[in-house]
Amino acid sequence: MPFPEDDLKIFTCNGHPELARRMCDYLQLPLGDASVSRFPDGEINIKINEDVRGRDIFIVQPTSPPVNENLMELLVMVDAARRSSARRITAVIPYYGYARKDRKEEGRVPITAKLVANLLVKAGVDRVLALDLHATQIQGFFDIPLDHLFSFPVLCNHFQELNIPDLVVATPDVGGIRMARAFSNVLKAGLAVVDKRRLSPEESSVGFIIGEVADRNILLVDDMITTGGSLSAAAVVLKEKGARQIFAAAAHPVFCGPAVERIAASPISKIVVTDSIPLNSKAQALGDRIQVLTVSKLLGEAVHRIHMNESVSSLFMKQ
Ligand code: R5P
Repeated sequence: MPFPEDDLKIFTCNGHPELARRMCDYLQLPLGDASVSRFPDGEINIKINEDVRGRDIFIVQPTSPPVNENLMELLVMVDAARRSSARRITAVIPYYGYARKDRKEEGRVPITAKLVANLLVKAGVDRVLALDLHATQIQGFFDIPLDHLFSFPVLCNHFQELNIPDLVVATPDVGGIRMARAFSNVLKAGLAVVDKRRLSPEESSVGFIIGEVADRNILLVDDMITTGGSLSAAAVVLKEKGARQIFAAAAHPVFCGPAVERIAASPISKIVVTDSIPLNSKAQALGDRIQVLTVSKLLGEAVHRIHMNESVSSLFMKQ
């Protein structure tokens, strides 16, 4: 779908250039030419190497680890585009970091999800395209348009094709019921809830399970895998309760700390994730136990529709 007058341009930083390239392949566009490097002291040095005056610019950058580097690169790239007279700047953020703190649950703590929204708008972002935000209320932290997509259709289609018999979709914590119900509806599967208690950012424990899991195949669904504690703890208890094979699906494969070791030692036989962020080398060591599906077509199609002022809502696929 070639675009008239060279009006749409996609740029990327170092967060996930492969995803940006895949989106460009889908859109049949060359990736915008920009240099993203470092000054000797570590400061970010960006130069946009082509004319963007009056153009519709999309900057693809997940703010995944290294979070601060990726966030700052995005802000600096937005500043460069703004000062180069881009007509409109859309930040395409397939993974929105600093999302954990979205409210004050105790005194003297920040709301970092709002802070990041403020920084993006202040830098010059006109709209945001996000994927599987950790909390949907983050949309309201922006007073500019934000399109919130879900990787759900990509992940769900995959499991539909596998046609796993006697399937029960399980959420590793109560907060994920909505997502699990959406999967179970489409896959015509049962539904189970694992009662997870978060003990610390790295540790969680499992209390009880609601739903029939004995002698069933299980699909655990979550928005992200960070330390792997939630999924591995849930899988162990599901197995103890008599589950057969356990699969897992998650949008964002963050895989930090002990995640790989935990997943490797868990009874999960296969994990399916997306390329919203790059799969780090430790996670790649999981070999055949992990499969990455691309969200580049979903994001590319959304970029196309935003650029053409067409509806994006049919891509939302309600959960
Ligand atoms: C919790 O609110 C999230 O949906 C995930 O369950 C959580 O972030 C996963 O973290 P971890 O892999 O460290 O248990």
